[in-house]
Amino acid sequence: MIQDKIQITDGVFLVGKNDDRDVPFHRLMLTKGTTYNSYLVQADRLAVIDTVDISFGREYVQALGEHIVLESIDYIVINHVEPDHSGGLPALAAKAKNARIVCTEYARYELQRMYNLYTREFLIVKDGDSLDLGGKTLRFFETPWLHTEETMVTYLEENRVLFPCDIFSTHLANKTTFEDSAGYDITEDFQVYYQLIMHPHRRHVRDMLAKIADLDIQIIAPSHGFVLREDPRRFIDMYEKASRETPEPQKAAILYASMTGNTRKIARGLADGLEKDGIQVDIFDMNKADDESIIAAVQESNLVLVGTATKYADAIGRTEEVVGKLANLDLSGITAGAFGSYGWSGEGIEHLHDFLAATNMTLLESSTIIKTTGVTDVQFPLRMRFLPEDEADRIIDRTANFLAGILLDRKEDAA
Ligand code: FEO
Repeated sequence: MIQDKIQITDGVFLVGKNDDRDVPFHRLMLTKGTTYNSYLVQADRLAVIDTVDISFGREYVQALGEHIVLESIDYIVINHVEPDHSGGLPALAAKAKNARIVCTEYARYELQRMYNLYTREFLIVKDGDSLDLGGKTLRFFETPWLHTEETMVTYLEENRVLFPCDIFSTHLANKTTFEDSAGYDITEDFQVYYQLIMHPHRRHVRDMLAKIADLDIQIIAPSHGFVLREDPRRFIDMYEKASRETPEPQKAAILYASMTGNTRKIARGLADGLEKDGIQVDIFDMNKADDESIIAAVQESNLVLVGTATKYADAIGRTEEVVGKLANLDLSGITAGAFGSYGWSGEGIEHLHDFLAATNMTLLESSTIIKTTGVTDVQFPLRMRFLPEDEADRIIDRTANFLAGILLDRKEDAA
């Protein structure tokens, strides 16, 4: 059932859903259940922070209406769009007719399309923006990729409460609101959640920690599990420590054959992105490097990325010859992916993908990435028509970040 309104601190209340079923989530089964924590902040103006899972939207709005006049809600803050938190928004917005939806620009893009909210008034916030509620002040910090692109956290200055949505959460249907009355040490549950949901994005965890470093946080009010009030710094420190535990650098070999320079730019961008995460990269122009050096680097690598331009509907230069030699080697355990820039159809990249499939490396493919990680914005083969000026850097950086995450996770799993 929907939780009763529970006071967290002066003028701040929890109204959420305690879901004590086995909850399927990201191909996991949350056998301890979970909660969807929504919060009310009452000042001269009234704000709701995050909602509940889409399955419980109507129930949530009905319960909320027993505590407050829904038309009096001034703002609905959406920190994270995933439907276990934004799912109550359409039902709430229908009743809270005067409320403006507060979120990041990218969150608006998603919310409008998910819930047909095109006519709704949004208040778009950026890093450091504040919102005066009349006696209380909300401040917002963008925290992209924790764990999706549109996310932010909200800080209530006067009460020193951080509302981080998924971040600092715990997946269990806790019977008590606060961790200090749980009756046991929640550290293990907290760390399990971190490892499953946040650790793959630890580069962004570090960015988030830098943004909140100067905030005086007395209470962390996340959207799953316990509200943390006894020693919130302890939980921040756990994220700090775990996100900085980087293993020994992994190695990558990037081979490319470029015609106009665009495929070379992708290769160099991927190398830069991987190196940012501590991956050691060897990069080769296949038309200039000797086979011995290429093969030696490939055999020492954990990741091999091969790029080609397309000419006459085929891979160019020595691409087929070099990858053909890799097919004669035992490269099991190495992950491989194809990339390239093209001008018309880019058949060369597809042929290269097939050449790589003939090796015994594990091939990166979009379908597998979606099924195993839920990530939809990383494509393999990575194809770019020319180099899209407005998007190329972002796509390349995101792809490199994703690949670094795979390598670093695997290394830690093996440790
Ligand atoms: Fe709890 Fe990313 O949703």
